[in-house]
Amino acid sequence: MGERMLITNIGELTTNVADGDDLSGTRRDAAVLIEDGLISWVGDADDAPDADEILDAEGRAMIPGFVDSHSHLVFGGDRAVEFEARMAGQKYAAGGIRSTVAATRAATDDELRDRLYGFLEEMLAQGTTTVEIKSGYGLDVATEERLVRLAAEVTPEVTFLGAHVVPAEYADRGDDYVDLVVGDMLDACAPHAKWIDVFCETGAFTVPQSRRVLEAGIARGLAPRVHASQLGPGEGVQLAVELGAASIDHGTYLTDDDVTALAASDTVLTLLPGVEFSTRQPYPDARRLIDAGVAVALACDTNPGSSFTSSMPFCIAIAVRDMGMTTAEAVWAATAGGARALRRDDIGVIAPGMRADLVLLDAPTRVHLAYRPGVPLVAQVWKDGVARLE
Ligand code: NIG
Ligand code: FE
Repeated sequence: MGERMLITNIGELTTNVADGDDLSGTRRDAAVLIEDGLISWVGDADDAPDADEILDAEGRAMIPGFVDSHSHLVFGGDRAVEFEARMAGQKYAAGGIRSTVAATRAATDDELRDRLYGFLEEMLAQGTTTVEIKSGYGLDVATEERLVRLAAEVTPEVTFLGAHVVPAEYADRGDDYVDLVVGDMLDACAPHAKWIDVFCETGAFTVPQSRRVLEAGIARGLAPRVHASQLGPGEGVQLAVELGAASIDHGTYLTDDDVTALAASDTVLTLLPGVEFSTRQPYPDARRLIDAGVAVALACDTNPGSSFTSSMPFCIAIAVRDMGMTTAEAVWAATAGGARALRRDDIGVIAPGMRADLVLLDAPTRVHLAYRPGVPLVAQVWKDGVARLE
């Protein structure tokens, strides 16, 4: 038997093991036992079993590690100039992706890797213990292969997004580019990836093109997820549901039919508040979605164009302040919701048998995540039972 580490005197423990109406499964004065990287016991501090090591949480709050199910962390350059122009009134457009493609193609593996590792550290310090990473800033076979290979060094949740936008050299030849994506590019990238994604949106890929990309990925054993309805309503959500996608991401502009279809499906809707913040688009009404029975996840969508934050607490604060979510719902969406969007049943919940991915907050309750926006409240993070912060 390995070392047993007990974290006790947890003032508020968010387990995400639903208890009647309480989807957060909140426990007071709780304790968690960790053994061999897994949670082996959860209960009242007064009933806690013996352990080799005991950590006193001093009445603070603990939540599951954040599961950030949508990011684009492998890229070169930044687009601060574009952000400033947007703040001065310019509109966000999908075409900006191409400038990051040029900078990414020009970067070496080591440059991209350094950056990637930096973002991961930044995320960990803010409580994120699992992250999904997409390619999509290479858009040629060799560079896309580099991006998924680098992502696979750090996470099993790798998404091939060769169909992010049509690159400049294929201007007005979108179908020819899709031929490349579903052909040589998929051949090169599929061995490193778990997921296939497409940006199904005006200015990116049409519904028939998106269907080709997703079906080709599925045929290669990749599971689908879809970027859709970010810039306006479209048919991407219906396509995602039809193909059994794990998640449709963005969903800023959803029709009533989209909401009905999502509610009746296993497809999670992943909301990305950092995008609306950074593009000055309207925040989606999460209340409408949750009340309709849609499973909602929250993710950062860290990328240099539409959302250059890596902070899940920041996204939670927006979701609570501007999207109609309770803090309990927002924390659930950023943990259990993200796990569901990645079809993972070993993370996002604090219960025996789950991975010991935990966050101790420097606060008495999880409400402080939204109540104290911008304040670093993460006191410690355990990933697979190992404390990761100094
Ligand atoms: O998720 N929507 C498409 N892709 C990214 C934005 C990429 C960019 O602007 O560079 C997103 O928002
Ligand atoms: Fe994205």
